[in-house]
Amino acid sequence: MTTEMRELDPPPRLLMGPGPVNCDPRVLRAMSMPMLGQFDPAFTGYMNDVMTLLRGIFQTENRWSLLVNGTARAGIEAILVSLISPGDRVLVPVFGRFGHLLCEIARRCGGEVIAIETEWGTVFAPEQIEAAILQHRPKLLAIVHGDTSTTMAQPLEEIGAICRRHDVLLYSDVTATLGGMDVAIDRWQLDAVSAGLQKCLSGPPGSAPISFNERAAEIVTRRKHIEEGVRPTGFVPGAGPIIGSNYFDLPMLMDYWGEARLNHHTEAASMLYAARECARIALEEGLPARFARHRAASAAMTAGLTAMGLKLFGDQTHKMPNVTGVFIPDGIDGERVRGGMLHNFGIEIGTSFGPLQGRIWRIGTMGYVCRKQNVLLCLGALEAGLRQAGIVVPSGAAVDAALASYGA
Ligand SMILES: Cc1ncc(COP(=O)(O)O)c(C=O)c1O
Repeated sequence: MTTEMRELDPPPRLLMGPGPVNCDPRVLRAMSMPMLGQFDPAFTGYMNDVMTLLRGIFQTENRWSLLVNGTARAGIEAILVSLISPGDRVLVPVFGRFGHLLCEIARRCGGEVIAIETEWGTVFAPEQIEAAILQHRPKLLAIVHGDTSTTMAQPLEEIGAICRRHDVLLYSDVTATLGGMDVAIDRWQLDAVSAGLQKCLSGPPGSAPISFNERAAEIVTRRKHIEEGVRPTGFVPGAGPIIGSNYFDLPMLMDYWGEARLNHHTEAASMLYAARECARIALEEGLPARFARHRAASAAMTAGLTAMGLKLFGDQTHKMPNVTGVFIPDGIDGERVRGGMLHNFGIEIGTSFGPLQGRIWRIGTMGYVCRKQNVLLCLGALEAGLRQAGIVVPSGAAVDAALASYGA
């Protein structure tokens, strides 16, 4: 049996879908470092490093910048289950699949959820959000920053000030944008955010960086109930309702990551090493340079797709720079072309969900993958796939346009 199941040997792939993307080899190397006990001073030192590095990539002074073990939705759940008490009103502007996910999670937390929707491929104007706040008077506004399902990024610059004006808490899911475009927690007055590693940070899925400010910390601390067995004598629980999840209980995570170092879960050490290296790499490159690299790839990709005669999806003024949506030409089997790219070239691109399933492809240029040679390879492979599908494509035009966009 063991000899039949040979050692893992994944086929080489270039991951140019909406995430996960290829890991930076430095991250994979960091993950192979030896285990340490979770309270070894060297390990708690690495936890502190992670908190410092996360403040850098989140552009925040927030003391509470830490990791939740689990994929990006674990970060979402930790924040929402801790912030939302049963019966709290939550407003969710939905512009894609992940807005629906926020509604779904907020409902499971007992929130009274009000969703406002805009057509997929568009985003909300700040005035629409303010009008909905005035109408519904929520405690929390939960909004996705970049929704990979539609490739759109919702501008958040003005939303924080609106929320403060009406005394609403603001949470944003920045999974798809962190490390690829500006995500300025403090400048934009976001009270809480969560992300993942597997997109513009070039890490594996399985760790969720989160950050929240003192406003949010105060709210969750009112719900603090430490589990029996580790509870210090004399501890007085908070007056608020107990948080409905032990694993995602932010006050207990704060005690684990903070000076109290109170035992909670066993930190996923290899993922912590990965997150530390992801953040180090991003800060070493410098956030402005990183964002410019993503913008350049986006410009080249869109120039190439357009030169092939394809139509881009959605409002291009609000497109994320790290993923591009493009309509699948009428009359062809999009899955067949995608399959051909994978099997002939080893390149993965994505399709989408819901109303966009089978209608668009999504092409990612994120993190480690976001570079000129990959943009060119992907365009060349897509051109070959389209020609095989019977679409007449001007030969070489896509690659030429992308090269010209790069100024090469
Ligand atoms: C915006 C956004 N939020 C949340 C998620 C969920 O992430 P995960 O699959 O890591 O839980 C994704 C994944 O694509 C995403 O793009």
